[in-house]
Amino acid sequence: GEKIAPEDMLFSYRDILFPASVSSPETLEALKSFEARSDDVILVGYPKSGTNWLEQMVQELADAKYTEEERKEIINAEKKVETFQRLEFGDPGIYERMKKLPSRRIIVTHLTPQLLPPSIFQSKAKILVLVRNPKDTAVSYYHFYNNLPLLPSFASWDEYFPDFMNGKLAWGSYFDHLVEWNKYIDNEKIMTISYEELKEDQVQGMKKIAAFFGFSLCEEDFLRIAKKTSFKAMKEKSSETHGKFGDVLFRKGVVGSWKDLFSKAQNEEMYRKFEDTLGGTKMAAKIKYDVYC
Ligand code: A3P
Repeated sequence: GEKIAPEDMLFSYRDILFPASVSSPETLEALKSFEARSDDVILVGYPKSGTNWLEQMVQELADAKYTEEERKEIINAEKKVETFQRLEFGDPGIYERMKKLPSRRIIVTHLTPQLLPPSIFQSKAKILVLVRNPKDTAVSYYHFYNNLPLLPSFASWDEYFPDFMNGKLAWGSYFDHLVEWNKYIDNEKIMTISYEELKEDQVQGMKKIAAFFGFSLCEEDFLRIAKKTSFKAMKEKSSETHGKFGDVLFRKGVVGSWKDLFSKAQNEEMYRKFEDTLGGTKMAAKIKYDVYC
C-alpha cells in the first residue's frame, strides 16, 4: 500500500497522541457515549504492559464455563459486530454496534480514566489494571515503534528515550497513565496486577484475577490455561491470532530486558522520574521497579 508520512501517523486528542491508523478524534469523541454493563470485564494497561497476554488469559478464564458450542456462538456474535482490538479503535459507529454484543464483554483499553466514558465508572463493571515496570515497558515500546510500519521509527534508542520520558508517544506518558489510575486505586471495582507477578507465578496470578471477576474454575483449568497462554505457545500461534502483527507483538516475553539498552545515566534518570511522579503511592508499591537492577 501507500506509504504514510511519519507526521501523519499520529494525531493529538486532548494533548495525547494516538495512532491514526486505528483511531480518530471522532472515535474518541464517540467513545463518551459507550454504555458499560455491570458484567463488562474491563482490562487496562499502558501499551506494552502485556495487554495481549492478559486479554488471552482473561478470555480463557471467562470461557472455561462455556461449552464449545456456546463459545462458537460468542465468537460469531463478535464477528458480526466486527469488534476491534481496543475500545478506542475503529470508526465512531463501533459503540452503537457494541450494544449488540452478548454479555459478558471483554473490553481492552490503553486509556487513562479521564478519557474513558463516565458510564464505566458509574456501572458496576470491574476494571483490572495491568502494570509493568517502566524500564521493560520502555524497551518493549521502542522495538514496537521501530518494527511497526504504522508508527514512526527512531534512529536509535538514545533518540527514543527522551520521548518515552516526556510522554511523546502514542497513548501519552507511562507516568501520567499510572498517576491517573493511582487516583482510583482504592476503588473496590478496581484491581491491579503486574506483568512481573504473572511471569513469576501465572497460576497464582490467574487465581487472583478469577476471584476478582467471579469466575469459578477448577485446578486443572488454571494449569491448562497457563500452558495455553505461555509466551512460547502464544508466539507459536501468533500469525493465526494476530496476523502480521504477531511477530512484532511476541518479542521476548521476559522480565529485565531493559538491561540490553539502558545506560547508567538513563537508569538513574528513570529512577528519579519514577520517584518524582509515583514515589510513595500505592501504585508504585504494585510496580516491580527494581527488576534485576
Ligand atoms: P516484550 O517486548 O518485552 O517481549 P502488549 O500486549 O501490551 O503490547 O505487550 C507486549 C509485551 O508483552 C511484549 O513484551 C510481549 O513479548 C509480551 N508478551 C506477550 N505475550 C506474552 C506471554 N504469553 N507471556 C509473557 N509475555 C508476553
